Amino acid sequence: MEHEVILEPSGHRLQVREDQCIVEAALEQGVAIHHGCGNGSCGDCKGRILSGEGVQLPFMPLLLTPEERVHKQAILCKLQPRSAMRIEARVDGATELWTGTVISLQRLANTVMELRLRCDRPYPFRAGQYARIAVPGQAGQWRSYSMASLPDEGELVFHIRAVPNGAFSGWLFEQARVGDSLQLGPAQGEFMLQRDTERPLLLVAAGTGLAPIEAILRERRQRSWTAPVFLYFGTRRVEDLYHLDYLQELAISWPDLHLEVCCSDPAFSGFAGPRRLLPSVAERGPWSEHEVYLCGSPGMIEAAVDLLLSHGVSHEHIHFDSFAPSAG
Ligand SMILES: Cc1cc2nc3c(=O)[nH]c(=O)nc-3n(C[C@H](O)[C@H](O)[C@H](O)COP(=O)(O)OP(=O)(O)OC[C@H]3O[C@@H](n4cnc5c(N)ncnc54)[C@H](O)[C@@H]3O)c2cc1C
Ligand code: FES
Repeated sequence: MEHEVILEPSGHRLQVREDQCIVEAALEQGVAIHHGCGNGSCGDCKGRILSGEGVQLPFMPLLLTPEERVHKQAILCKLQPRSAMRIEARVDGATELWTGTVISLQRLANTVMELRLRCDRPYPFRAGQYARIAVPGQAGQWRSYSMASLPDEGELVFHIRAVPNGAFSGWLFEQARVGDSLQLGPAQGEFMLQRDTERPLLLVAAGTGLAPIEAILRERRQRSWTAPVFLYFGTRRVEDLYHLDYLQELAISWPDLHLEVCCSDPAFSGFAGPRRLLPSVAERGPWSEHEVYLCGSPGMIEAAVDLLLSHGVSHEHIHFDSFAPSAG
């Protein structure tokens, strides 16, 4: 069964089946509702139900606060209609695209590749944001990757983990060559340094979640704030660790930076030996005076937020970016 869904304030009218989510149906009908992951993990598609009934499929619970739920905010990539609806939604105009040329490819670890791109014209973004990149040779397939670089550097730097049978990461590790071209959509995401507070920072990065955390760290260093910065970087396996020399050198030259590297692999002999990331964060708390930035898998983010809330950190001081698998 189909229902009419009207988007406000754009006025777009969509026909949406009961087994279809609003973002997916809109894309099929040529309307680009602003979105990121497409699977309920990033919050970029947040909108509001103005009238009508819908079913909200499961999404990462942290994306809507209790107050937002009371005000009928909804995650539109996980919302299916059950009647005619009116929905407040952000609709992107004709999407501007950039062409990025691969200028270098470097293995940072067994499973992590650094990809450097130079765009055909300036690519506006803030440290911590991500780009949607088209998967070469697969029409309509896009993946999200966070910039590890700063906007004024003239190059975009990404840290990309190999995912078994991954469309984009498989292409990157097996076929990509210097000189190849990639298409990029505009920078997205709200994971950025809060510039209106000089609270001490707690940064927690799991795996390639280090990419946007490095960008935020570097932006923070450019500011003349004096509060300390605690960086926890962790992986499960030793072979997935990367940038340790870079981070150690940074910590030596920047006395305000406290670096903890955690790897739960029994083979890890560096730093304090084998340790798990979140228990190590918990040990050093409380973090209630800190502005907290978390980046990694959805599971890590959910566990970290639970931990921090239970340690008295309030929601408004926790910022996160969840590297969920993409839905296209
Ligand atoms: C906002 C955002 C920012 C991101 N930034 C980065 C980044 O900086 N670096 C980075 O490495 N990744 C990042 N990701 C993840 C990235 O977008 C892709 O999802 C990932 O690289 C897999 O894409 P792929 O095409 O290689 O694999 P796909 O073709 O999408 O997946 C292949 C198979 O693997 C499964 N799969 C995909 N991802 C995972 C996973 N994480 N764990 C288990 N199974 C999985 C899929 O379900 C599928 O079955 C980010 C994601 C989001 C939402
Ligand atoms: S696009 Fe809906 S939560 Fe990411």
